[in-house]
Amino acid sequence: MMMGLTRVFLFLFFIRQTAWAQHGPLEVVGAVHGVAYLSPRLQTQTSYHQIHWRRNNSVKIASWDSRGKVWYANSTYKGRLELFPNNNTLKISCLQKNDSSMYQVYLEDEVGKEHIENILLTVYELVPKPTVNANVIRGDSTWCKATLECSVGLEGVTYEWIPPSKLPLEDVGASEQHVSFDPLIETYTCKVSNPVSSNNASLTYRHPCSWTGESSAAAACTTTSTLVVLGHLLPLFLLLSLA
Ligand SMILES: *[C@@H]1O[C@H](CO)[C@@H](O)[C@H](O)[C@H]1NC(C)=O
Ligand SMILES: *[C@@H]1O[C@H](CO)[C@@H](O)[C@H](O)[C@H]1NC(C)=O
Ligand SMILES: *[C@@H]1O[C@H](CO)[C@@H](O)[C@H](O)[C@H]1NC(C)=O
Ligand SMILES: *[C@@H]1O[C@H](CO)[C@@H](O)[C@H](O)[C@H]1NC(C)=O
Ligand SMILES: *[C@@H]1O[C@H](CO)[C@@H](O)[C@H](O)[C@H]1NC(C)=O
Repeated sequence: MMMGLTRVFLFLFFIRQTAWAQHGPLEVVGAVHGVAYLSPRLQTQTSYHQIHWRRNNSVKIASWDSRGKVWYANSTYKGRLELFPNNNTLKISCLQKNDSSMYQVYLEDEVGKEHIENILLTVYELVPKPTVNANVIRGDSTWCKATLECSVGLEGVTYEWIPPSKLPLEDVGASEQHVSFDPLIETYTCKVSNPVSSNNASLTYRHPCSWTGESSAAAACTTTSTLVVLGHLLPLFLLLSLA
């Protein structure tokens, strides 16, 4: 009796798992002005009688009927859709930010049974060149303390600061190293990324504590990333003294 119950429980658990796995929507990302392909997972096993695509489970935007006739909605998608009957893929061109939505494909087989799949499309803007700026907190001939700022007027981005690349040691284990660098100039790079693109801008440090940035596009700042640099002149002494 106990064993029987356990088996039933495991069986139900298994069903729930597969149902969840199959119905989690596919996610597609696209860039503004770019192209997105929405492709159903169920493509090959059945030849479907007719199919159609909907946006957000309501408006029908494209279809292909049993006589092979393709139809597109005369809406904001006008001239931007292409349906490939061979694999039921919907191509959306000239993407706009507001094309972001859940889309459904209704695949209808010979006996009128519908298979529905969800595909989530998210359209991102290309990341513009970030605006970078340095504020010196304290600077003299031996120390430079500054706050570096980086921003783009776009939400949903990640920031990464790339410090100056120093001394790519040829062979860390070797008893002898050849080093060559200019301790008076260093470059810090801010890289901003989203799922479809990335961009970067640099700040150049010059001894004793001056900073110059690249000029960049207009900044309607919404998000900012800050890095505090505590730089000591010639911090490489530490590395070199290891040898
Ligand atoms: C499509 O919409 C335009 C206006 O947006 C209209 O002039 C045209 O007649 C429509 N065509 C059809 C076939 O409905
Ligand atoms: C679907 O078919 C079109 C046209 O043959 C092709 O360009 C596209 O890459 C195909 N997509 C997939 C996912 O198979
Ligand atoms: C999407 O935005 C464009 C302008 O970028 C506008 O013309 C269009 O009507 C909008 N579509 C919807 C569905 O809101
Ligand atoms: C999708 O539909 C829901 C209601 O069913 C609505 O609240 C929502 O705003 C719609 N989203 C888009 C992007 O059209
Ligand atoms: C910064 O952007 C330039 C193109 O603008 C690219 O060549 C370079 O690889 C990028 N640097 C980083 C660290 O991503």
